[in-house]
Amino acid sequence: MLRSILGKDIAPYVKRHHRLLIAALALTATASIFVVIPAYLLKPFVDEGMKIGTEPVSWKIPWIVFEPGTWTSWRITEKALVENVSPNRLLIILTSIAFISVLFKSFAIYLSGLAATALSNRVVMSLRVDLYNKFVTLPLGFYYKRKTGELIARATADLTMLQNLIANVLIGLVEHPLTALVFLCYLFVMNYKLTVLVFVIVPLIVGLIRLFGRKVQKHATRVQDATAEVTSAYQETLMCLKVIYGFFTSQRETERFRVLARDLYRKIMKWSRWSLGLGPMMDSAVFLVLPAVLIAGKVMFDHTLGELMSMVYAFSRVYSPIKKLALVNNNLRTLQGATARVFEIMRTEPALAEKPGASVLGRHGESIEFRGVCFRYNPETPVLSNISFNVRAGEMVAFVGSTGSGKSTLLDLIPRFHDVTDGAILIDGMDVRDVTLESLRRQIGIVNQDVLLFHDTIFSNISYGMPDADREEIISAARAAHAHEFIMEQTVGYDTLVGDRGGSLSGGQKQRIAIARALITNPSILILDEAASALDTESEALVQKAIDRLHGQMTILVVAHRLSTIRKADRIFVLEHGEIVESGTREELLSRNSRFKRLYEMQFAD
Ligand SMILES: Nc1ncnc2c1ncn2[C@@H]1O[C@H](COP(=O)(O)OP(=O)(O)OP(=O)(O)O)[C@@H](O)[C@H]1O
Ligand SMILES: [Mg+2]
Repeated sequence: MLRSILGKDIAPYVKRHHRLLIAALALTATASIFVVIPAYLLKPFVDEGMKIGTEPVSWKIPWIVFEPGTWTSWRITEKALVENVSPNRLLIILTSIAFISVLFKSFAIYLSGLAATALSNRVVMSLRVDLYNKFVTLPLGFYYKRKTGELIARATADLTMLQNLIANVLIGLVEHPLTALVFLCYLFVMNYKLTVLVFVIVPLIVGLIRLFGRKVQKHATRVQDATAEVTSAYQETLMCLKVIYGFFTSQRETERFRVLARDLYRKIMKWSRWSLGLGPMMDSAVFLVLPAVLIAGKVMFDHTLGELMSMVYAFSRVYSPIKKLALVNNNLRTLQGATARVFEIMRTEPALAEKPGASVLGRHGESIEFRGVCFRYNPETPVLSNISFNVRAGEMVAFVGSTGSGKSTLLDLIPRFHDVTDGAILIDGMDVRDVTLESLRRQIGIVNQDVLLFHDTIFSNISYGMPDADREEIISAARAAHAHEFIMEQTVGYDTLVGDRGGSLSGGQKQRIAIARALITNPSILILDEAASALDTESEALVQKAIDRLHGQMTILVVAHRLSTIRKADRIFVLEHGEIVESGTREELLSRNSRFKRLYEMQFAD
């Protein structure tokens, strides 16, 4: 049932909170019954209570009596609830009952509103956490083809849409049919033939609802897409503020943004044309029927004016919840669009799944071997081809080569940020694809080419891989990374906040914090992708010293842009176009007329 209404994606999330759902629906149903009471009291209020004079009146309701001794034969009579009171007194009694039932109704509506809000927010909370978890487990490849802002929009705007609509749809689907049903029963009792006659309009209304529903869904998806564009624009602008300031293009960017904002506005208006149009269209269609009812009622059934008026009133009371139900259908369609966008991500399978029964990789102590490794990001262009080498534990090897030759890519393959497309990488003889991701990544310390820091204190950034590390451990990691001195020079030392992505630190400082962060988990393998941006000579010397000090304690693979960094490397691999073209010690390479020698001479030309 839930599945067919909300779709197979959301239904399981709603089912998890079935108690809240039942509470919300039961309270809604209770409220709609209390709504009917005041309407029902209107008849005795007018017919009896409004009588002039003091002659006693009574209030009777229809009643069913069973013949004595049987449950099958019964007749309808009237039962007096209140007898022989003055009209004014009856008015007071009826008003009190109406008031109490309104109180009950209001309270039931309040509670059902709370339950429904709790329901949809819990559903969205679970979804939000699951989506976040998806974000942090999806393979990196997933992100290369997507805009960050677009993903953020799905996690915010689309989820907010779900949050607003789930309760609305579920409650509406119970509340409105129930109210309609009560008045429909009343109509059937009054004149079932005439009521049936009115049903000729049903196909027309159903047609309208379906047409508008389809259009609403289509345009709602476009609105959400355009919202994502706007979110992306914010996100990208904030990322590239310095470029925008530098080129003095604030005005141009604002103009570009204005186009996006206009586009969003247009799409919202198109969507509104359909979502707001359904109500008035239905009103017009129904208006065609009402005069027909009046005429048919007079000509064919000889109803009195009073009866006709009360029937037209009842028709309108049946119609208004049906109309609301049709609007719920619009909401449902909007909801389906947002759901589809969220679940497109949820359904993405992590390509880097662990093998079932993957074994735990023990602490690395023998070797790292690349065996005929090939890799390509997309089918057309190979990035690495046939890379083979062997690194002994404790060795320090360096990779050099011109930009785009595949150095960073090669290092990314070791912690399985991507999987090799051919060949294999073995650590201590075990294929990295056969061991658990945790046991693999836990023992690799990584310092990326573009250093990423969290918006947090220096302390928290360093302790990221080991949150329960104490101050001593943090300081010793920082010392090993030659970061301690400059950290102590900051205003509040280790408790200094670094801005987003480390905005308040220099490139060299960030890199040394990243080294400290990599060292805190005591890795057996250190992967260091040197920042391509030029560090100042002092920072560079300190980074180099830090690396030298670690030499021998762990296996170090370093990508060097400045060849001075790798003076102490045991071996150097020169990469060109994704292939290893030379290897050897620094001296060996320099003694030959090698590619390395030419690179070296270029860097130290002056
Ligand atoms: N996510 C990606 N999708 C597709 N191609 C990529 C991706 N990342 C890198 N490449 C391509 O792979 C090749 C190698 O890139 P890589 O980043 O490994 O080079 P690099 O040697 O580290 O360069 P640099 O010295 O500038 O850091 C380049 O041609 C690059 O265009
Ligand atoms: Mg690189």
